[in-house]
Formats: sequence, structure tokens, C-alpha cells
Amino acid sequence: MIEYKNVSMLYESGVEAVKNANLTIEKGDFVFIVGKSGSGKSTMIKMLMKEVDPTEGAIFIDGFDITTMKKSKVPFLRRSMGFVFQDFRLLPNKTVYENVAYAMRIVESSPSKIRRQVPLALSLVGVSNRANMYPDELSGGEQQRVAVARAIVNNPTLLLADEPTGNLDPITAKEIINLLNDINLRGTTVIIATHASDIVNAMQKRVIAIDKGVICRDEKGGYSYES
Ligand SMILES: Nc1ncnc2c1ncn2[C@@H]1O[C@H](COP(=O)(O)OP(=O)(O)OP(=O)(O)O)[C@@H](O)[C@H]1O
Ligand SMILES: [Mg+2]
Repeated sequence: MIEYKNVSMLYESGVEAVKNANLTIEKGDFVFIVGKSGSGKSTMIKMLMKEVDPTEGAIFIDGFDITTMKKSKVPFLRRSMGFVFQDFRLLPNKTVYENVAYAMRIVESSPSKIRRQVPLALSLVGVSNRANMYPDELSGGEQQRVAVARAIVNNPTLLLADEPTGNLDPITAKEIINLLNDINLRGTTVIIATHASDIVNAMQKRVIAIDKGVICRDEKGGYSYES
């Protein structure tokens, strides 16, 4: 379970990106974070992955306050998370297989486990037939599928996606969101920051809306923001 308690984030520039956020996200939940550009969506996600720390309040994961966690422990925290970004962030000099395998090598998985899990992850996202290709030989949608495979290969309890469909056409975008939904149905908590109103409105999931850093709406079966 994730809990934001009175969380504020004031960047050094003087921008208060998040203002007194209070939020609980249960294990296995599927959540969209919506809001206009600059409203604080990415900041909400970056605080969970400890890319930035709140300037006030605390964030608890399974009862553990991650805001006071030592820097040296952050890699262990991130092992329980998978990340998907708008720009895919695959390693250009590695094949699809190696990109996914690399995520397992970092956490020191055994070679036999890697040989077992990588093909499973590639198959789950539907890119088994691209295993020996390089990222620049794939379409954007295929690259994002590989990024999703990489994000889930270590069986994370939490998957964070910041604008995962921002570079994709509407049909491919829907496929990626469906994939994230499948992953959620297998038990992983999924949090997606997105502008994709059509998808948010169609999915009928929990929607947390943020406006100028303030959480202004939080409802199941919710809709996206009015642009
Ligand atoms: N590293 C930073 N330093 C200073 N200000 C920042 C930093 N990152 C974000 N901000 C500011 O914080 C506010 C929220 O930014 P954030 O990236 O969280 O918004 P967002 O909702 O993700 O926007 P977008 O939809 O454009 O991705 C913005 O005003 C932004 O300019
Ligand atoms: Mg953002």
C-alpha cells in the first residue's frame, strides 16, 4: 500500500509542484493521474521512485517511510518497481533480448533465471519475434512493448508509467494501456500519469486529477480533465 501524507514538493526554482497531497493507493489498484501540463503529475511519480523527495510530509510504502530512507537503500526500493516512460529509454546498442536481460543482471539474477524469465516477458508483451533486433529497428509501439517487458521482468509489485503513450498513435496507445491493464490483473499495482483523455474515459478506472499541484478529484470510474 502507498500513502502520501501531507506531501508538498517545492522545487528550488520556487515552483510548488505538489501542495499538501493526501492519498492512499491499495495493493493491486490501477490508477490514472491526470491534469494539465505542469500540474504536478510527473512530480507525484518522481517522489515515489525517489528521484525527488518531498519538501514536506511523508510517503509510505507498505508502512515504511521512504522519504527518510538512506540513499544507499534506494536501489533496493526500486527493485520492487518497474518504470515506463514516454521516450521508451531502451539501450540502443543492445538487442531487445539484452535490454530485458540487462534489467535482471542489474539485480544479480542467475543466468538460468534470466534465460527463463526474459522469453516469458517478451512473449507476454507480444514481441518474441523481435528478440534479436535492435531498438532502432522497431516501431515506437514495439519499443514501448519492450520497455514494458523490461519493467515487469523482475516481477515488481508496483509499475509506474509517466506518459507511456505520449509518442504513440491512438490505436497503439490503447494496446499499451491494455497491456498495462493485463499486468495489473496479474496483481501488480499500476500508476499511470497521462494526457490521453480518450483512454482514461474509456477505461473506467480510478482517476486522480491534479490542478496546479492540488489534488482536486479522486474517483473510481472517473474521467480525464477538461482541456
Ligand atoms: N526539476 C525541476 N526544477 C524546477 N521546477 C520543476 C522541476 N520539475 C518540474 N518543475 C515544475 O513543477 C511543476 C510540475 O511539473 P511536473 O513535471 O510534475 O508536471 P506534469 O503534470 O508532469 O506536466 P506534463 O504534463 O507537461 O508532463 C511545473 O511548474 C514544472 O515547471
Ligand atoms: Mg509530466
